[in-house]
Amino acid sequence: MENVYLNGRFVPHDNAWISPDDRGFLFGDSVYEVVRWYGGFFFDMEGHMTRLRRSLSETRITWHEIDAFPEVARELISRNSLDDGCSLVYLQVTRGAAPRTHAFPEPPVKPTVYAFARRQSLDTLIWERGIIIDLVPDPRWNRCDIKSTALLANILSYQAAHDHGLAEVCFIRDGFITECAHSNIFFVRNETLYTHPESGNILSGITRKNVVALAADNNISLVEEAVSADMISYMHEAFLTNTSGEVVPVTKIGDIVIGEGTPGEITKKVQTLFRAKIEAWGREHGARSMGQGA
Ligand code: PDD
Repeated sequence: MENVYLNGRFVPHDNAWISPDDRGFLFGDSVYEVVRWYGGFFFDMEGHMTRLRRSLSETRITWHEIDAFPEVARELISRNSLDDGCSLVYLQVTRGAAPRTHAFPEPPVKPTVYAFARRQSLDTLIWERGIIIDLVPDPRWNRCDIKSTALLANILSYQAAHDHGLAEVCFIRDGFITECAHSNIFFVRNETLYTHPESGNILSGITRKNVVALAADNNISLVEEAVSADMISYMHEAFLTNTSGEVVPVTKIGDIVIGEGTPGEITKKVQTLFRAKIEAWGREHGARSMGQGA
């Protein structure tokens, strides 16, 4: 049976019980991280740790053992025989279990810490074909920079897109594109990349950060500026970034076909550079092999 991590112990999935009074369950009072295992190494664990520390401090959730996370993640990979191939490790830290009241528990209680690892291959088909996404007003709060598990607004928008056979949904706030339900978005116009700057309107994606860095390293012009919804039809290319999909071309947004309606050249270049970055990361961190999937 699958082994998961709960509050300092590795246990069979079916023995992992949490209290119904857990604030993660009652309020969505919790934060999370998702990190990818590439058959031998985690990509940018440091980046994920930095973001997790920030999410915890912004929400004032205390998890003293946070430094143990890389080891816990590695152990989950081993215990579930996931060493080879691609997997995702999910970690959630809640404010803990206490009688329901909006105020933080006083005295503070221990956080609930849950993590699991599951096989998840990379979808190379969508890298080649691209995806069509929906376009809707951004229904979320203004602290999207916190990686909170309170994702109802994201879920409802995503499900509506999914019901229409679309692969993701992109949000408009005050006339500008922010990000998507579970990914960041980049546009390309005249060989320059555009993406929303870090702010409360977006989650600062680890993949986004790495794409921003690789653009700088490879003399690709990039501007951290939000694209207005009116400008979408003038964009030549678009792509999404996230840990589960890496760099995914977007060929249509709502009713608007992007460029030629096929993955663009700059997008392909970014994909190739990102792949190369992961391979280099693997060499540096002692990976045996870098599989693309199960
Ligand atoms: N989602 N924006 C949002 C709202 C996200 O939920 C995510 C990630 C991203 C991209 O972040 P990163 O590059 O660090 O994965 C942007 C994860 C994968 C999820 O919820 O499963």
